[in-house]
Amino acid sequence: MNAAADHEENVRPVTRCRVCGASDWQEIVSFGEVPLANAFLAPAASYEDEPAYPLGVISCRSCRLMSVTHVVDPEVLYRSYSYVTSDSETITRHMEFVAATCRERGGLAPGDLVVELGSNTGQQLAVFARDGARVLGVDPARNLAAVANERGTPTLPEFFTAATAEIVRRSHGPARLVLGRHVFAHIDDLAGVLAGVHALLAPDGVFAVEVPYAVDLLEKLAFDTIYHEHLSYFLVRTLDTLFTRHGLSLFDVERLPVHGGSLLVLVGRPEAGRPVTHAVSTLIEAEKRAELGSDAGYREFARGVRAIREELPALVRSLVAEGHRVAGYGASAKGTTILNICGLGPAEVAYCTDTTSLKQGKVLPGTHIPVRSPEDARADPPDVYLMLAWNYAEEILRKEAEFLRAGGRFVLPFPKPVIVSADSVR
Ligand code: TYD
Ligand code: ZN
Repeated sequence: MNAAADHEENVRPVTRCRVCGASDWQEIVSFGEVPLANAFLAPAASYEDEPAYPLGVISCRSCRLMSVTHVVDPEVLYRSYSYVTSDSETITRHMEFVAATCRERGGLAPGDLVVELGSNTGQQLAVFARDGARVLGVDPARNLAAVANERGTPTLPEFFTAATAEIVRRSHGPARLVLGRHVFAHIDDLAGVLAGVHALLAPDGVFAVEVPYAVDLLEKLAFDTIYHEHLSYFLVRTLDTLFTRHGLSLFDVERLPVHGGSLLVLVGRPEAGRPVTHAVSTLIEAEKRAELGSDAGYREFARGVRAIREELPALVRSLVAEGHRVAGYGASAKGTTILNICGLGPAEVAYCTDTTSLKQGKVLPGTHIPVRSPEDARADPPDVYLMLAWNYAEEILRKEAEFLRAGGRFVLPFPKPVIVSADSVR
């Protein structure tokens, strides 16, 4: 069998909606064939047979789930995973907020069992453990589960399914809190995962879910968050439909700035009788007013995406043509995606700097731009950084004050590409 056929076996087109089962889709945008966003490669003389998969987004006309057009086999995406949870100030502060919210609004107390799906290296669970919870992580990435276990956060190297949930319940008892931070949007078999949550949750237990908010994507046009791992882009109304269909009840929601705009949603058993907060109806009403249930809003989004797809590479090329050296800041999955979608490669972007040691020394998927450590980048800085970790822009601009003072500039891509210099961030 040749390599191309091999890759085809790992992907399938989306037909039925994973939330409501309908199959009436509005096509929004298509980006052609794109390599996997986190598939960093060792530098090589040639990159023949690098897999690429169709990437695009569609919207379900029935429940308004936004979904990617194709699902790549999770065994391919997640068994060995190079995305390590950030230890940035922004995320560290956010994890404290999540723990406090679960304690206050979910009624979590010391000694309670907290199970996290997609727990990565265990940073969030460590915060709960510090506050006295019993914790257990479940993450299919064997490399990351091993790190978490070494650091003292017990972690099962498995996908969370109904079967895994049964095993956990038998060995640890029911969970007072099940947590899924930025993993829920990566799950195709929502029915299987929610059956597991249902089985594991204590009668008064809470399922806390954090997902990127589709409204932020639609408003900020940050289409680089559209890649194969992100299967779903949720509205509150879509999440409400989903949980109700699976015998659960969404009772509270909060809009958060993290990862470019997210929702923290609290879900319980309907029998627990938790009152639904005003925040839930307020957001659902606002979604309706903004006509997010109509085709027109998504057509508008597609127009905005097309504009940035033209303007951003044109801006970078003009900087290069003027003799400026450009590098990428952050080899984020978003960054590898936007470079591929905009057709920017090593001719325009000399390197990308990134703090993740797993990525350093490798090259970006598709574009093969090399990744350098911050130390190497500081020793050989560019004239202009293309901000590829824009969700940390504030923190990064503060950290790079010296670069800016020395005349360095940043290009911020969304919602319209702009150049910032020391003068503009003062
Ligand atoms: P992140 O936005 O967390 O996620 P994704 O890969 O899902 O798009 O990625 C940010 C990347 O930027 C991550 O690889 C770490 C890197 N980074 C830096 O190199 N320097 C920094 O100061 C920060 C905050 C992030
Ligand atoms: Zn649907």
